[in-house]
Amino acid sequence: MAGSRAAAVVFLLLAASASLCTAVSVDYDGRALVIDGKRRVLVSGSIHYPRSTPDMWPDLIKKSKEGGLDIIETYVFWDMHEPVRGQYDFTERKDLVKFVKLVAEAGLYLHLRIGPYVCAEWNYGGFPLWLHFLPGIQLRTDNDVYKAEMQRFTAKIVGMMKQNNLYASQGGPIVLSQIENEYGNIDWQYGSSAKPYIDWAAQMATSMNTGVPWVMCQQNNAPDPMINTCNGFYCDQFTPNSPSKPKFWTELWSGWFSAWGNPVPYRPVEDVAFAAARFYQNNGTLLNYYMYHGGTNFARTSGGPFITTSYDYDSPIDEYGLLRQPKWGHLKDLHKAIKLCEEAMVSTVGNTTSLGQNLEVTVYRAESGECAAFLANFDWQLDATVTFNGNSYDLPAWSVSILPDCKNVVYNTAKVNAITALTKFVPQTSQSGSNSSVVSLSSWSWFKEPVGISLNKEAFVLPGLVEQINTTADKSDFLWYSLSIDLNANDPLLKEGSQILLHLDSVGHGLYAFVNGDLAGSGKGSSSNNKFSMDVPMNLEPGNNTIDLLCLTVGLSVRNRIFNNNLFSFFYWNYDFLHNNAKIFQNYGAFFDTYTAGIGGPVQFKGLANGSTIDLSSQQWTYQVGLKGEQLGLSNGVSGQWDSQPALPKNTPLTWYKTTFSAPAGNSPVAIDFTGMGKGHAWVNGHGIGRYWPANVAPSNGNCADTCNYRGSYSNNKCLKGCGKPTQQQYHVPRSWLKPTGNTLVVLEEIGGDPTMISFATRELGLICGKVSENYPAPLDLWDSNYLTRVTKPTLLLECPSPSQVIKRLQFVSFGNPHGGCGGYTHGRCRSKRARRVIHRACTGKTKCSIDVTVENLGDPNCENVTKSLAVEAFCG
Ligand code: GAL
Repeated sequence: MAGSRAAAVVFLLLAASASLCTAVSVDYDGRALVIDGKRRVLVSGSIHYPRSTPDMWPDLIKKSKEGGLDIIETYVFWDMHEPVRGQYDFTERKDLVKFVKLVAEAGLYLHLRIGPYVCAEWNYGGFPLWLHFLPGIQLRTDNDVYKAEMQRFTAKIVGMMKQNNLYASQGGPIVLSQIENEYGNIDWQYGSSAKPYIDWAAQMATSMNTGVPWVMCQQNNAPDPMINTCNGFYCDQFTPNSPSKPKFWTELWSGWFSAWGNPVPYRPVEDVAFAAARFYQNNGTLLNYYMYHGGTNFARTSGGPFITTSYDYDSPIDEYGLLRQPKWGHLKDLHKAIKLCEEAMVSTVGNTTSLGQNLEVTVYRAESGECAAFLANFDWQLDATVTFNGNSYDLPAWSVSILPDCKNVVYNTAKVNAITALTKFVPQTSQSGSNSSVVSLSSWSWFKEPVGISLNKEAFVLPGLVEQINTTADKSDFLWYSLSIDLNANDPLLKEGSQILLHLDSVGHGLYAFVNGDLAGSGKGSSSNNKFSMDVPMNLEPGNNTIDLLCLTVGLSVRNRIFNNNLFSFFYWNYDFLHNNAKIFQNYGAFFDTYTAGIGGPVQFKGLANGSTIDLSSQQWTYQVGLKGEQLGLSNGVSGQWDSQPALPKNTPLTWYKTTFSAPAGNSPVAIDFTGMGKGHAWVNGHGIGRYWPANVAPSNGNCADTCNYRGSYSNNKCLKGCGKPTQQQYHVPRSWLKPTGNTLVVLEEIGGDPTMISFATRELGLICGKVSENYPAPLDLWDSNYLTRVTKPTLLLECPSPSQVIKRLQFVSFGNPHGGCGGYTHGRCRSKRARRVIHRACTGKTKCSIDVTVENLGDPNCENVTKSLAVEAFCG
């Protein structure tokens, strides 16, 4: 292929190889990835292996394959693999080789994004904290100490992959690899060191001789042979930096992540499909959904600050591993449509012409005669009818139609044939019962975490206020700052009365202030501003007074201190807006490692009668990293320190709780509902479930609406849900961490809560729905290779989520102009009387059924001038 760059080194397949196929060459040219000599149009999706458990991987990969993916993409998480310098860990959720092999076994390719800086809403962007402490290091720039470490880790990973023959050039699944991550967005801040660093990174990666191409995302100046790729909500207008590089989209954001205290973002599938189709229309040949399965930030892996434990991301596969319908299904249909165009698309570049304002057609016409076309209406409001090749086509606003033969529309991004399946949490009873999940309330035991310094051996005294991250090295979320003040009976401070306040300024992320052993106040920052100030009422007494300030981090930043500078934020916002990459979160940027936490100060008494303040910042403070319960190893539940007197302490801050429970019956995914609790950490059988924080509630006056108009440009605060509710209430407990009975749950409650209110739920699929209009294309599943000649009708395909289920009951049927959405359909002003009977006969008692959406089949609803639709709601069982 002309213009090819990456070395296509083909290795012989070693006999001992665990890999599955024969070696293939992987290369690229200006049009596409070239695998085994053939240009390909490819669909990829992100699944980050540590965000699920190994027993979930095969099903996630299977669902990805069924959803039409060719490639699974994952980052590599350095901090998990090398928690201590030189000590590697590739066990359990960190078993990267196993993950890659499972992808291979499923017959899919893999894109390995090594980074090793990965961003990803992951603690410290994926860097291990020890990196920060290496003398002379500066991260992500032309710094020898850093480069040596980056090279060593990259070589380690590449070496492992090679040893296991996992590169396509060795017969394995890896067809692409990434070095660095979106450095181009922030490289200007590194001045003249940026370019030498990126050139070095490119050269270092290339020298690893993986035999497959490398990409650099969001790196317009990526040197050859690196392919510079695009990340964003839309990337159709992107062009790579050389005509000999193909147009790739490494992150099509399928939704967005959530942060504590904010409503939860989602992205309508019509818009995701629109963005994807526009990309393929405009000569794109590989895109990756970020995320395809988002999963869970277990233990302390969530980045931040303030990224939630759930990393659901509104992905096509939900956090619990269930299909999110219709998102998964509508994208699956898109992928089928794209594959029907592949031959034409790889043979030539698209030829785009305008069909009117905001209307465009792109034709891929191969010399061999193959022809595929994309019709786009990118108007935010107006539907249109266009004429193309002498035929007339209806194009809803903000939609793309795909015509794999330049004639028949097999898919339109705004017409969703896929079924909707509602998922819900089904509470498990907490009464003793044979097959229910029982949190055995009688057996709660607890441990009261001491307030203030309790680990005398480790505590240390320093004058002044220390920075938290540099002090804890992230061994724990917690750092105590303690001060003891002796007042004799005639100290003037005691005469001041109760109006004295302890004022303090924190740079993040949260803080509990204890005065003389009692919780006297708490404060927290937010994802848009980590900083906060507090004024805590003081009740000073003669004799010894203690001020114990417990500071906590909530996921380490991957962003820059400069972000607090409004001018910079303003610039970045606008830069981002222009690039459709809007981010309002402060978890991103250059020099993120210099970002600080803890009490920045000052700490002072204020409210004195004479208006003055007394500064406490430079006093001799006593410090303790972490909690006593952490040091005792309470999280695995086995320590002997637990108390189980009859009276269970409730609503007391800093209390550890322990109980046992049996797993909910069946195989459905399991969640813990932390209603009644404040904030803390939870472990099941010693596995970190993650931080929980139901007390952090999204503002009720937020920008949430029942429905979100998918038309028009998307941004991460356009479609929100959960205003007025805890950002996250349920927390995933992977099945593989559970035994049938005798499971240990340990909870560290920080603020104070009632553990007897903790309950379990299973994640189940409920109602299924379908809505198809008479102007929809026939479902992709009904098109076959001779679609050119077949006349197909709009059809509603209903299918139960599990092959062992049948449609038990029809909750709603209407053929006419029904309104509303799944679970809330209502009849419109016209409807056919016959439809319900027809559907009942075709569907009840069956696992799946197919219904022609025509007047002949369903009866005439006598609607005038209305496009008729069939809407069905059904229960499977
Ligand atoms: C991108 C970044 C990803 C992830 C994403 C937002 O900029 O490359 O790692 O952080 O934003 O989810």
